[in-house]
Amino acid sequence: YGNESLNRPLVHFTPNHGWMNDPNGLWYDEKEELWHYYFQYNPNDTVWGLPLYWGHATSKNLTTWDQEKIAIEPLSDDSGAYSGSMVVDYNNTSGFFDNTTDPRQRAVAIWTYNTPDSESQYISYSTDGGYTFTNYDSNPVLTINSTQFRDPKVMWHDETQKWIMVVAKSQQFKIAIYSSPDLKNWTHESDFTQEGYLGFQYECPGLSRFTVPQTNETGFTNSSSTDKWALFISINPGSPQGGSSTQYFLGEFNGTHFTTDHSNTNVIDLGKDYYALQNFFNSPDGSVYGIAWASNWAYCNFVPTDPWRSSASLVRKFTLEEFQANPETSILNIKSTPVIDYDSLNFGETSSYHNETLDTENPINYDLAKNFDGLIEFNLTYRVNNSAFGKADFADLSLYLIGEANSNEYIQLGFEGNAASFFIDRGHSEVPFVQNPLFTDKISVNNQPSQYINSQVSEYKVHGIADRNILELYFNDGSQVSTNTYFFTGGNFIGQVQLEVGIDDVFQIEEFE
Ligand code: FRU
Repeated sequence: YGNESLNRPLVHFTPNHGWMNDPNGLWYDEKEELWHYYFQYNPNDTVWGLPLYWGHATSKNLTTWDQEKIAIEPLSDDSGAYSGSMVVDYNNTSGFFDNTTDPRQRAVAIWTYNTPDSESQYISYSTDGGYTFTNYDSNPVLTINSTQFRDPKVMWHDETQKWIMVVAKSQQFKIAIYSSPDLKNWTHESDFTQEGYLGFQYECPGLSRFTVPQTNETGFTNSSSTDKWALFISINPGSPQGGSSTQYFLGEFNGTHFTTDHSNTNVIDLGKDYYALQNFFNSPDGSVYGIAWASNWAYCNFVPTDPWRSSASLVRKFTLEEFQANPETSILNIKSTPVIDYDSLNFGETSSYHNETLDTENPINYDLAKNFDGLIEFNLTYRVNNSAFGKADFADLSLYLIGEANSNEYIQLGFEGNAASFFIDRGHSEVPFVQNPLFTDKISVNNQPSQYINSQVSEYKVHGIADRNILELYFNDGSQVSTNTYFFTGGNFIGQVQLEVGIDDVFQIEEFE
């Protein structure tokens, strides 16, 4: 499938070779000012398989990553070091450390050891800043005689001065909450069960604390508290988008129980390639940052990349916002902002179009960019005249990323005015691979305008990052996101970008950059 150097994403982490899935053990080393990212790794093949390891990568800027040596190994060839998390044990509650390890580097991994007969929780500690690990000699620290008990995510809870673990009893649709004073002894506190989308099983839970935005016009019922908690749960298969995806609930956490505010379930990314989201244990500014696996169990083992399979998403910063869901109601929503360190990249020229009214009867094409290296970022702001709605033959506004080797291959971002929805069509990419219907089904993102200009005109905004074979779309400043991979013949880089509009006096491009 073409030249590796032309189809490997530039700002999305990929392993040098072999298979990767979930992000694991995300933490920030305050001493070295270094971000650590571990991942489910099969170095021996480009499909998932045992033995499964924790691969490792580090970054100074959250944009470019260096792959490090394998960090955690399973104990035998028919077993796996499955997903889990990392904490910094500043106060040496575990007793694993002495004064030779800086408190900011007392990394302890909590992970699932998977064998043919059980899944149980193991801990391992590092005295060299997260590169090599020693297994605790009394593992497992938590076992319930189950083969479906995995993916512990641990955090420190200030109010109760305890470690809190959320872990999936996957096929019972339970997220179990445990507490511990020392990471070794765990007490079961509660189960959060059968909420939201269930699919076939729950995986990869996560609990994060957010600050509520300080606005009160709409009178949120919990406006007295300035904190809000989010419980993330990945489900696979059976997600609303097809295959696997990550949902979340907003609510309260009191140190033992998580309760949701509403019965509504949210999907953190409306695309098909955003699974097993995990947030970093800490961060320099106290904000919530996370990484997901940019693939989907429905087709991950078949995508045409070699000698590696799968990429990470960009790092995203998550914040709570009051989101205008429709003209009458705003709700609390997690907003996603991509983290890109522009100084570490060498962006080429920018084309800008401002205030273009597209007024031809026939579709027109704007050639926006050609023959570039594979990474583009764009901001598109446009206004739609409401006279568009209900028109029988309403054509869409489309942005195409077109394959270089074969211009019949493209991925299309369309806007369908009647449905007030965007759609992504990736049914026209690399031929043998497109047979998988879970890949080629159109993916839609319902959307509200970013602004109602007046009763006649609404404005929409799309911020996109296309990186060789991944397109991340942030609608209306990240209120909704859709992440999707695509694969073109002969190297997956993009040759050309076109904007196409097909109707009179309906659209106005405010800005394209
Ligand atoms: C999620 C998952 C986890 C498990 C890991 C195994 O993608 O199935 O539940 O720990 O992958 O690789």
